[in-house]
Amino acid sequence: MLKICFITSELAPLAKVGGLADVSQALPLALAELGHDVRVIVPYYREFQTAPDHNFIRTGPFIELKFGSHPYSFQVLEGEFPSRDHSRQTPQLHLVDCPELFDRPAIYGDSEEEHLRFLMLSRGAIEICQRMKWAPDIFHVNDWQTAMLPLLLKTVYGWDRLFDASRSVLTIHNIGHQGVFPADILEDLNLGPAETLLHQQDLSEGRINFLKTGLLYSDLLTAVSPTYAREIQTADYGMGLEQLLSARRSLLQGIVNGIDTDVWNPATDELITARFSVADRSGKRQNKTCLLETMGLEPNPGAPVVGIVSRLTHQKGFETLYESMPILLSENDLRLVVLGSGETQYIDFFEQLKRQFSDKVAFHEGFDNRLAHQIEAGSDIFLMPSRYEPCGLNQMYSQTYGTIPVVRNTGGLADTVIQYDESTGRGTGILFDEFTNQGVLWGVRRALQLYQDPDQWYQIVSNAMMQDFSWNRSARQYAELFERLSQLSPTEPAAKTT
Ligand code: ADP
Ligand code: GLC
Repeated sequence: MLKICFITSELAPLAKVGGLADVSQALPLALAELGHDVRVIVPYYREFQTAPDHNFIRTGPFIELKFGSHPYSFQVLEGEFPSRDHSRQTPQLHLVDCPELFDRPAIYGDSEEEHLRFLMLSRGAIEICQRMKWAPDIFHVNDWQTAMLPLLLKTVYGWDRLFDASRSVLTIHNIGHQGVFPADILEDLNLGPAETLLHQQDLSEGRINFLKTGLLYSDLLTAVSPTYAREIQTADYGMGLEQLLSARRSLLQGIVNGIDTDVWNPATDELITARFSVADRSGKRQNKTCLLETMGLEPNPGAPVVGIVSRLTHQKGFETLYESMPILLSENDLRLVVLGSGETQYIDFFEQLKRQFSDKVAFHEGFDNRLAHQIEAGSDIFLMPSRYEPCGLNQMYSQTYGTIPVVRNTGGLADTVIQYDESTGRGTGILFDEFTNQGVLWGVRRALQLYQDPDQWYQIVSNAMMQDFSWNRSARQYAELFERLSQLSPTEPAAKTT
């Protein structure tokens, strides 16, 4: 049994911005189920305070921490780990309660304290372990927000023999966000002479990059899919970190995310209109009708529905719809149902599309978990034209719900969608290579063509619904990696397993 401390800035369902939240819930649950002692540490955000069914208990006194000249104190809260199935073995949940830093309207912000918020989470996590006298075998940190922990462990907390055998693993969920701050924050890191361990060129150019620091000082690195692990070693996808990643490639392993089948399962999902399964698909039609009604579109069972649920950001590549979507909507009797929130240019585009094709397009701006489930269940086709996609979860949710993904052939999309081949009847979706309007046109037209052929469509939907995206395999891969790492002596270099 391993002792795993999982530190994260998001946790579904309460503190969610994107897929990191889903993974932070499902992976620790899957590891706990494998018999490991898993403790999850997350900030006590405002979202937790207002959650109706959650009781958090304060444990212990205030703990004072100083970041440079900024003193803060926090308390530790404990609560039940969010899980649908209470018969499951669940991780322990600890929350870092520092209202000054975390009682804010949004999980992420652009205030001058953003670096302090996540330094508080990282140091808070180490302090919590100290007070529990609990020496994790693995500190598992995620993205830039917790990427400073491995270095802090070796420096600011280097004196504490409790952590002598602890190793750190950094998972890259998204290299597009690196946590880059002006070098003025140096003092807040409390590194003292160990500041020479920071990337010196960055420092001389006036910046400190949290993710880069994590890549330098974690004992092992993972990315959330094998293709993304390869892509980020190239200039097209590495966002400036490709050389470092390529140099450390023996420590970098891609492990594809899974999905929580207690939460995303059409046979049990309480958030959708009618439950269905691969054996009995009648409910899918009902979901489609209700979805169109909810979104204010005329139900027409014959017309295919294309769904989108997404953060509306540069990463997701919606520029590729600017010219292709008006053509597709003019050429075909189809419906487009979009749920998303984010940047103005994409919101304006979908608003404009809705005005232009008012009987065919519905757009709901905002974050709505129930509607996300209803779109997955009620659509026929799910569109993800991502510029880059470390893993992506929606393409897996959609396959499970018999909704055929049309995705760009990149990152985790390439690893979880199998190109459909009419001649063999194998495959689960449509992948297009080019990041262009032409690419989208090709992909969606191909899906529409298959949709017109009931036998082919029945086949591809069956294939998609029968995929196993549960966490079992990936959680075991993490566990094996952790196991191997924890058995190495501190001086031995770690190396990936495959
Ligand atoms: P990313 O983390 O890059 O946003 P993922 O596909 O990994 O992409 O995860 C996105 C998660 O967030 C999914 O669970 C998806 O359903 C959810 N999501 C994204 N946008 C919305 C929204 N507007 N409303 C509800 N859920 C959303
Ligand atoms: C990031 C990525 C997404 C991935 C998620 C969870 O937000 O953008 O592709 O699925 O993290 O790992």
